[in-house]
Amino acid sequence: MSKVKITDTTLRDAHQSLIATRLSTDDMIDIVGEMDKVGYYSFEMWGGATFDSAMRYLTEDPWDRITKLKEEAPKTPFQMLLRGQNVVGYKHYPDDIVYKFVEASFENGIDIFRIFDALNDTRNMEVSIEAVNKVGGHSQGTLCYTISPVHTIEYYLKKAEEMVALDIDSICIKDMAGLINPMNAFNLVKSLKENLDIPVCLHSHCTSGMAPTSYLKAIEAGVDTIDTAIGPFSFGTSQPGVETMYAMLENTQYKSDLDIERVYKIANFFKKLMEKYKSLLSEASLTVNTQILHFQIPGGMMSNLVSQLREQNAEPRLGEILSEIPKVRKELGYPPLVTPLSQIVGAQATLNVLSGERYKLIPNEVKNYVKGLYGQPAAPIDSDVQKIIIGDEKPSYEKSPDLKNPSYEKFKEAVQDKIEKEEDIISYALFPDIALAFFEKRKNQVPKQKMEFQEAEKLKEASNPGMIVSKEKPGAEVTLRAPLPGAVLKIVGETGKPVEKDSVLFIISAMKMENEIVSPASGILQKVFVKEGDIVKAGDALAAIA
Ligand code: CO
Repeated sequence: MSKVKITDTTLRDAHQSLIATRLSTDDMIDIVGEMDKVGYYSFEMWGGATFDSAMRYLTEDPWDRITKLKEEAPKTPFQMLLRGQNVVGYKHYPDDIVYKFVEASFENGIDIFRIFDALNDTRNMEVSIEAVNKVGGHSQGTLCYTISPVHTIEYYLKKAEEMVALDIDSICIKDMAGLINPMNAFNLVKSLKENLDIPVCLHSHCTSGMAPTSYLKAIEAGVDTIDTAIGPFSFGTSQPGVETMYAMLENTQYKSDLDIERVYKIANFFKKLMEKYKSLLSEASLTVNTQILHFQIPGGMMSNLVSQLREQNAEPRLGEILSEIPKVRKELGYPPLVTPLSQIVGAQATLNVLSGERYKLIPNEVKNYVKGLYGQPAAPIDSDVQKIIIGDEKPSYEKSPDLKNPSYEKFKEAVQDKIEKEEDIISYALFPDIALAFFEKRKNQVPKQKMEFQEAEKLKEASNPGMIVSKEKPGAEVTLRAPLPGAVLKIVGETGKPVEKDSVLFIISAMKMENEIVSPASGILQKVFVKEGDIVKAGDALAAIA
């Protein structure tokens, strides 16, 4: 029996779970050197939502975070969360982009790559595991933990063995919703330890209140590493606090070698930092919610859902959406609720509630999921729902051959006059619009405070519909209204041209999903009241058809 190793998630998962991923490199830079002296096994400090959040909300180059923090903290291995073929985005990227991303991350200073696929479909993990092994990084395979009639110990063991065959260095049980109970943690860890010859890590969230106890049972079953966060950024929907876990292991053979006095001092720093971001905390992500055991909502998903609903003035409907989520999940074959499937299931459930009719609005991502583009679900999709979503089309679970086509040069060409460094091409390949907007802001070097102010002004304008969307009532024409709040991503229809009933006229982006808005009638598209980029509220007029 040996001492348990401890990973610190404060710089990635903890703030992603509690304050919508808003910690900046500046917030971290003064403390990471102290953290480096504590004796952690690793820092989970990059990947997941931190990449696009940095560009989108912080006007910060995500790549700089690795190098800047590494300078201050050279000792403790840096760990990132890599979404397999989704890299750090929400769709599948070509193989060469996965390779380039892994190479650049490793060169910048990432040591350990925790690789997962939301469906535990190893087809989507092969290339990233191969890439990590090739550059010489530590490849950690991941089992996304969820509860359903099909997610048994045998299922997880089979998945783990598939990953071992791909030559992973360790395996992580990733319990993103905090669902694993102590005995299940014990049994799963025991089974993995007995059958595999690699280190096992348990990653859980405190959402249901069970995580510290489940960690303890996992430790008794021989788990090698546990994930914790610094006190002020722990519990709630985040990881168990490191101080708590340390104290729990006092007087046992598992007690870790952390410099706990130093941890207490570091906690004071993060306490002040949490003060700064307090307004982003929601009660729902702080209080233990026993219903979570039924709804299975991961920490990050809950905090995003709440902030999205707040933006749409729909927060009072949270309860209805929470009860809709397990229904949608069952119908979609019990996908684990982890990015991007947490967004996909969450968006569909939200639309089912807010639009007043189930599966009336179906984001393109949901269609693609049902077609099999994301991989194979653990259980079949409900046949009635499948029919509503893709009609008679048959799902296919083969990897798309398109992903094998080299694409890097194409991205490079498209963006080469806007880049400052090689990594910019990768940022662009992953998030074209966000990256371009970021390059522009970086070039103009708008100070961060000013940016926030401008964004706040923009939001204020957006909430005043008179300034954004024409409210005129067009006579006997049929007015197409926005069925949901969002941004007009694309206008497909053309004024003066005939349109068919149910043909796509607009694509509205809401909750990071693309929603096709179809014509309510056949006729001539008389007028379009919005332009691309406009923010619309539910009920705003989009177009008139007559
Ligand atoms: Co997590």
